[in-house]
Amino acid sequence: MNDIEPVEIAPGIYWVGVVDWNLRDFHGYETPKGGTYNAYLIVDEKIALIDTVKAPFADEMMKKIKQIVDPSKIDLVISNHVEMDHSGSLPVIMEHAPNATLITSSKGRSGLSGHYMESGCDSWNFQEVKTGDTVSLGKRTLMFIEATMLHWPDSMHTYLMEDGILLSNDAFGQHVATSKRFDDEVEDVMEDAAIYYANILMPFGAQILKYIDKLKDLDINIKMIAPAHGVIWRKGFSQIIENYGKWARAEATPKVLVIYDTMWGSTERMAMEIADAVRSKDVEVRLRHLRKNDWSMTVKELMEASVVAIGSPTMNNGMFFTVSGFLTYIKGLHPKNKKYFLFGSYGWGGGAVKAMEKEIETAKFTIAEESLQVKFKPYEDDLEKCRAAGYRLAELAKENANA
Ligand code: FEO
Repeated sequence: MNDIEPVEIAPGIYWVGVVDWNLRDFHGYETPKGGTYNAYLIVDEKIALIDTVKAPFADEMMKKIKQIVDPSKIDLVISNHVEMDHSGSLPVIMEHAPNATLITSSKGRSGLSGHYMESGCDSWNFQEVKTGDTVSLGKRTLMFIEATMLHWPDSMHTYLMEDGILLSNDAFGQHVATSKRFDDEVEDVMEDAAIYYANILMPFGAQILKYIDKLKDLDINIKMIAPAHGVIWRKGFSQIIENYGKWARAEATPKVLVIYDTMWGSTERMAMEIADAVRSKDVEVRLRHLRKNDWSMTVKELMEASVVAIGSPTMNNGMFFTVSGFLTYIKGLHPKNKKYFLFGSYGWGGGAVKAMEKEIETAKFTIAEESLQVKFKPYEDDLEKCRAAGYRLAELAKENANA
């Protein structure tokens, strides 16, 4: 099932994207709510298409465009970002509108040329743009804003000057499939945006703060933000920019996140005892079993926490495989302003805690408390040590919070 009707989001500006109801895995990032790929058609004296959709959905996008205009009449195609969820249908649109000018950033041109050789991109009429460059459509003017590392080097945004609409590609998106198009029509939009930010944009806080400064320097009057994923911000556009600033500054609340996996329950017992001790000190705590919770939400919880406890049983002298995979994942996301504590259990020989310590140190994260491990099962004296660790983590969570 898909939405086959375009949606006029402002006079002469149409959403011609698609809803991917069955998306559950976006190159490894779990998307339990599905997703959308948003493309926008602007009908003025000239006709412009902003971004496209993932290749398997090209027909859906073309059906929407054809309800509004003859695709051969498109004058300009703007590619804000090379990644294939947005550029995948460029070959189709460029076949329909071979004389259209394809506007992109310098790195965008390089990336598109690298990806679409076999689609005849040598014959596409590229025009490279940089921040502040403008193109007139007649009554409307497009201004381009480079958004380097939000989240790729080529990323760019397009601003509709007269309408005050920022077409922000990946930035300010959410992965959620819905037949609604606007933020005030759905629930949990800010939480979905936070999950998206944590998993896609968290490594780029410094660049995001520069980008927000750039928006201020450009002195533009944003009235709507239309990203390439999820719903359009027509109500919460200021709030989402403000929250991007908070997330980019790694503002953390006094919260302890306990992440773990377990084989026969010993590490889980430790995790529960640590969590109970934190809770007894009136500090918020969240428990996330790595095989029972989706990692994209766990990473969002991690972004908001000031202390992270990670537990693993020993398996084959090392970490349990999910813990190893999760540490690899967050090493790349590089969350800032966290204090870590490691714990685990073992049978005939340890290894998990030492392996986790090595991984955390390699990532240059901060271990705040001496690690804790138990042999076989945690008995009362071990549980007492878990509780003591939990009390200290509660204090640490308050000290390390900066929100
Ligand atoms: Fe939505 Fe970077 O692609």
